[in-house]
Order: sequence, then structure tokens, then C-alpha cells
Amino acid sequence: MGGDIPPPVDQLAAVSLTSDEASSSTVQKARFSDRVRIQSILGRPDGGAGLAGQKVRISGWVKTGREQGKGAFAFLEVNDGSCPANLQVMVDASVSDLSKLIATGTCVTVDGCLKLPPEGKGTKQKIELSVVEVVDVGTVDPGSYPIPKTKLTLERLREFLHLRARTNSISAIARIRHALAIATHTFFDEEGFLYVQTPIITTSDCEGAGEMFQVTTLISTTEKLERELIENPPPTEADVEAARVVVKERGEAVAELKAAKASKEAILASVAELNDAKANLAATEARSRLKPGLPKVDGKIDYSQDFFGRQAFLTVSGQLQVETYACGLSDVYTFGPTFRAENSHTSRHLAEFWMVEPELAFADLEDDMNCAEAYVKYMCKWLLEKRYDDMELMAKNFDKGCIDRLKLVASTPFGRLTYTEAIKILEEAVAKGKKFDNDVEWGIDLASEHERYLTEVVFQKPLIVYNYPKGIKAFYMRLNDDGKTVAAMDVLVPKVGELIGGSQREERIDVIMERLEEIGLPVEPYEWYLDLRRYGTAKHSGFGLGFERMVLFATGMDNIRDVIPFPRYPGRADL
Ligand code: 4AD
Ligand code: MG
Repeated sequence: MGGDIPPPVDQLAAVSLTSDEASSSTVQKARFSDRVRIQSILGRPDGGAGLAGQKVRISGWVKTGREQGKGAFAFLEVNDGSCPANLQVMVDASVSDLSKLIATGTCVTVDGCLKLPPEGKGTKQKIELSVVEVVDVGTVDPGSYPIPKTKLTLERLREFLHLRARTNSISAIARIRHALAIATHTFFDEEGFLYVQTPIITTSDCEGAGEMFQVTTLISTTEKLERELIENPPPTEADVEAARVVVKERGEAVAELKAAKASKEAILASVAELNDAKANLAATEARSRLKPGLPKVDGKIDYSQDFFGRQAFLTVSGQLQVETYACGLSDVYTFGPTFRAENSHTSRHLAEFWMVEPELAFADLEDDMNCAEAYVKYMCKWLLEKRYDDMELMAKNFDKGCIDRLKLVASTPFGRLTYTEAIKILEEAVAKGKKFDNDVEWGIDLASEHERYLTEVVFQKPLIVYNYPKGIKAFYMRLNDDGKTVAAMDVLVPKVGELIGGSQREERIDVIMERLEEIGLPVEPYEWYLDLRRYGTAKHSGFGLGFERMVLFATGMDNIRDVIPFPRYPGRADL
């Protein structure tokens, strides 16, 4: 990647075009369709002016459309999602029925000729498309289309998750999210980390916080059985007895035939009848044991009958599993969805969110902090270089300061202080009259208000707080020599609070066993994790970055539900 300072804005718009494409006077077609992306027209340094005279086919959705000249022609603002800018498209009434084209949301594919707009009209457009043929139209009934021309609130847009990708804000966020994901893979690849896919279904609770969603087929199989038992009631005790009698009679029949020295065929036929009767008895007995309700042993649900033969959950973090690869392949990372069944209704929590979790072998807490800081800075620079156009849209519509914030974070060293120092600062603030909802004293888990006060008010930049009390942190964090704190670190950033949580891992088998006992966690489920310490244990560290928190931080959006395509939170899982 280039230097710290992004190139001037008019050059940034063109960064995803190669320099050949950007200066060429021929337009670049999308490789897998016959259209030209609007980005490859408007994203050039000349805003597309150098393409005047070119014939192109474009496709997209009408943002706004209006008939002009008493219905002689129409202007459409068309967007295909490739960039925030719309292409202005002019259609003459002789070419098409204009009334079908102008409703917001209409999908059009048109062939036309790129033209310089008439001078003196005060337009920002450097180029527009004069349509020769309307190739395809997906019409919209403006009376019922839920995403009208006038802006809906972000909250209202959440009612239409399936259509909100057509709005300027949600599509800009989608492009920024994509850029952050690519930046993530590029950063770790450049640094020699391997991308490891950890399981989504797991039988280990990484954080030990009991906030897991259970994965089970017991409920659906029980419901199915209950329905079946109503339609086809199970055999009664009398039915079972009747089946038993038949077995007895058939057995006697066989014995009689044998005693009478009957023919071999007759005996075989009789034995076959006996076997049928036995099979029928077994099936009847088995069905008679079927009961409605979940299967139980000793009053507890019998998970041995569940899909995996044991209780299983959606993962809260891929850390424990990715550690197994770190302790063999050295530097690795996982990037996947994680799930937490916490009943949080805040603007910072989701029930399903994505986490980036690097795990560094032979690295201590300081190495871990250095990696976290470098990674966050890399993403900020990446956005400034690759998606400046979308960042400008975010700055204009949501958060004036978001571009400056990215620049600041990309270029300023993060503050670093211990938890104990952080508490001291907070206590001093309280002594001077600062009011917090949550009390401040050594040993508390920092609340979001404390984290934001430290990063937004005191330091005014990202901050790494480390060495937390062991009582508020997970069992796998390495115990410090003071016996009171663990080698944990959280990266706190303005607007968001906690962006990253990480630690050096406890690599000493005896210490980690003691920690499990202290916390009251059973050892058995973690035996495989302990094996990593029993056999060739290695110093290692890692962290988890909440990907949506990073998108929140970058874009300056207020609510985490608007920076993930399909938000899941208590009470909502649309689509
Ligand atoms: O601090 P957390 O719980 O750390 C872990 O899960 C470690 N196992 C990570 C590791 O060391 N590999 O979560 C990590 C980050 C938080 O800092 C936060 O950014 C995000 O995940 N996060 C959430 N994001 C959205 N919604 C939630 N409910 C979140 N919970 C945590
Ligand atoms: Mg945390």
C-alpha cells in the first residue's frame, strides 16, 4: 500500500480502474455481461468526459426520473451499485414510452451514446447518456413501492431489508464493508498469516459466558413424532400382548411340525412365519414405548438422541479452534460469523456478527497489541485509498468527521495504558464531578460509558487498555506475575468503545487447570484445548475484532443494525 496521505479526491474516484483504463478513450465492459459499469464511466479522473462519443449499454435502477419538455423526453438518474454516483440518462419520447421508465426503483437496461452535457446548465455531470434503445425494463408501481424518492429513516428502512440495498447509504456501507473485508485478507496475507475456517457449530463455549444459541433437531423431531402419534396412535398394552400370543402360537406350530417330522419345506415355511411374528412383536413393542415430549434420562433431556449425539451450539468465537492451528502453523486467522444470545438491545450489539480473529504463535501481549494497531491502521488507510467516494457520502450524510477520523487513526500511535491506570483516570474524573451511571472502582468491568470517556474525552484517539483483573476475564488469558491481573487487552475507539478484545493465552498447563477450577468450569470439555499445553506448548496471543464495530467506526453510523446486511437482534431475524 502507498503512503499515509491519500491522493487528492479527484484521483481517488478512479482508484479501482487501472491507469490504462482511466486514461483510455474506450470504455471498459464488465467481463461477465454485456453492460458497462457506471463506475468505469464516472469513476475516471475526467468524470467520464473523455468517453464522449462512445456507445455503451448500461443497466441499473432509476433513483429519480422526470419527464421534461411537455413529455418530449425524460431524464433518469441511474445507479448500478458500482459507485455512489448516478449516471444521468436522457431518453427521447420517440425511443420509448417514458411513463414506464421514470418511477423510482425501475430497472433499466439501455443502449446509448455518451455525450458531454450542454454547457451552462450548472450540472455537476461531466458526461451523460443519450439513449438509442431501451433494451429491458423492470417496472415499478410507485403507489406500492416501499422505498420512495423521499428519504426514509434508517429505522424504517430496516423494515425492508430486501430492498434497502438500493439506497445510497446502505449501498455505500456495503462497498465499505467489502473493502474492509478485502483489506483484512490482504493485511494478514501480506503478514504471512494463514486463513483458517473454524466451525460455526461447536461443542465448546469459548468465552464461558453461557451466551450460546443451541443447535438441536430434538425439538423438530419431537414435534414430528407427536404429530405422527396423534395420526397413528401407538399400540396399547393389549396390542403388544396380542403380538406376543402370535409369537407363542407360531413357536408352538414350528415345534409341532418338527415333532411330527414334517417335510423340510413345511418346517421352513413355519419358521418364516415365526420370524415375521417376532419382527412384528419387536416393532409393536418399540412403537408402544414412543411418548410425546423430549426424550429424557434421569429427568434431564437426553442429548445422546440429538443430531450430534451431544449438546451443540453456534460459536461465540473461533478462537479456541484457531489456536489449534496456530500451535502447528504459527500465524493464522479466522474470519467468520459468531453468535451471542445476549439480550442486548444496544446500538453496539448484534446476536449474529462477524469477527476477525488472528492468533499469533510465539508472540506475547505486546506483539498482540502491535498487530492489532497495525491492522486497524491498515484498514483506515485502505478505505481512504480505495473508497474515498463512499467515505465522502458518509461524511456528507451521516458523520462530518469520519474522514478526518480515518486519517487521524491511520497516522497517530494508539494510546496504551493499563487497566489500573485507566481506573485511576476515571476515579479522578469522578472526584472532579464527572457523573457515570456505573460506579468506578478497581475490579469492575469497564462499561461502555467509561470506555468512550477514555477514548473520546481523555485521549481523543484509539486506546489500548491492558492487564485487566482476572476476575472479569476469560479462563484462557495468561495470568500475570502479580497473580491478580491477566495479559488481556481491549482496543477502544471513539464513537464505538470496544473494537477489539484479545490476550496472551495461558500456555502453562498447571495454571490453566487452576483457572478452570477457580472459575468453576468443567475440565472435560476442554481436554483437547489442554492437550495443546500438554504437548509442545507455545507462547501465543491473539485477538478478536468485531467487524461490524469496525464498519461503525469507519462510517460514523450510529447503529450497528445498519452496517450488516441482515441484522439479527432480540425479536428480529428477517429474511
Ligand atoms: O471481546 P470478545 O468477547 O473476545 C472474544 O470473543 C475473544 N475470543 C477474541 C479472541 O481473542 N480471539 O469479542 C471480540 C470483539 C469485541 O471487542 C467486539 O468488537 C465484538 O467482538 N463483539 C460484538 N460485536 C457485535 N455484537 C456483539 N454482541 C458483540 N460482542 C462482541
Ligand atoms: Mg471483550
